Amino acid sequence: MELRAVRGMKDILPPESWDWQWLETCFREIAERYGFGEARTPLLEATQLFVREIGEGTDVVEKEMYSFERHSDHLTVRPEGTAGAARAYVQNSVSGREPVTRWYYIGPMFRAERPAKGRYRQFHQAGCEIYGDEGPVCDAEIIALCADVIEAVGVDGYSIHINSLGSGDTRERYRDALVKHFLPLKDQLSEESQRRVETNPLRILDSKSKADQALAEDAPSVLDILDDADRAHFDGLRRHLDALGIDYIVDHKLVRGLDYYTRTLFELKTTSDALGAQSTLVGGGRYDKMVESLGHKKPVPAIGFAMGLERILSLVQSPAEVPKPACYFAPMMPEAQGLALQLAHRLRKAGHYCEVDGRGLSVRAMMRRANGFDSRLCVLIGEDELAKETVTVKDLARREQESLTLGDDFVGRIEAMLARPRSEDGAETDG
Ligand code: HAM
Repeated sequence: MELRAVRGMKDILPPESWDWQWLETCFREIAERYGFGEARTPLLEATQLFVREIGEGTDVVEKEMYSFERHSDHLTVRPEGTAGAARAYVQNSVSGREPVTRWYYIGPMFRAERPAKGRYRQFHQAGCEIYGDEGPVCDAEIIALCADVIEAVGVDGYSIHINSLGSGDTRERYRDALVKHFLPLKDQLSEESQRRVETNPLRILDSKSKADQALAEDAPSVLDILDDADRAHFDGLRRHLDALGIDYIVDHKLVRGLDYYTRTLFELKTTSDALGAQSTLVGGGRYDKMVESLGHKKPVPAIGFAMGLERILSLVQSPAEVPKPACYFAPMMPEAQGLALQLAHRLRKAGHYCEVDGRGLSVRAMMRRANGFDSRLCVLIGEDELAKETVTVKDLARREQESLTLGDDFVGRIEAMLARPRSEDGAETDG
């Protein structure tokens, strides 16, 4: 039987992996401009961490986690990064060292969802979390950071949606208001939403069913029941986004699939229909209660987001180029292979990408591969060269060749060749 990758999980191989590195570098550079440092937490956490923080009634915990028992530990392969990062924040007593902490992470997450375009069982997120700042300045900053990344990588057309879930008992009051709204309409709701009316009525608001959407049309708005402090926080966020010139849509029906959120919620969605129902590129929000619920002695406000890297990559044209060798070494006989290796080693130590063809094939076959790589130079070493202690260097761009001696200036002479224009009249160089 042929063994294949697990359904919903993909290999990322060259040349595609160059696009991934490009996206990750864009994200890192922008996150670092906002003061975030990288946090690397384990892929495995105690199952209880996710059950408690993400919430028992959520899809993620109910049906999507990869959980198992080993040596009597109940473990789960992380479905997201927020709970693990908060666990690390508490466990490492970070609040005692700094009043505000800004962390970012990039890595794989695992959810046993039904695979579809833009929805995988192993997918990758880049995310940020801030601890110790209750906002709303940092809420606006974090949304600005997301927009910076989305724009820097060239996503064409996106919208920012914001909402507030309030704090204190707002969520419970809102829940009650929604039960009151949906209960008399229960028979008309989709099967899934009928189940949710009393357990998790907030999720009916983002149901994909047309019938549910129509019934949610005049559902009460959470923004109408915010208390004064929550309203001031949300107004503050809007004011700061306005000051930054960031367009956004206030969407009182925006709810998210994880239970830990309080106050600010936001999503960035593509306006193209390339991803169908998977149009959310970034999801995030505030979770001011999580740190304390993990056993921290006092509450620490927190906010963060995560972006789906597969979804973003499917929408953009990566400018990443597969690197081309500076020098392709083509030893024409077994006795020349050692010298080819030594010379390539010297050039690599000086920072140049070299390929050594050790296959022992014909010159024609080696030249074909050098051209296939679009190598700038090809170094030929045969009987003649060995006897004279020289090498023949072909400049594949300029269609010229030179004989070089193997003295101390060998690297310098190669560098001089690389620095020349690719053609007599062109200014472009590789060096
Ligand atoms: P989330 O909305 O579950 O939030 O995921 C964030 C993003 O990850 C989504 O908007 C989407 O782009 C991507 N994503 C989620 N599931 C999949 C999947 N199965 N396949 C492909 N991409 C997917 C969180 O995970 C929160 N931890 C975000 C957060 C951080 N909130 C506060 N801090």
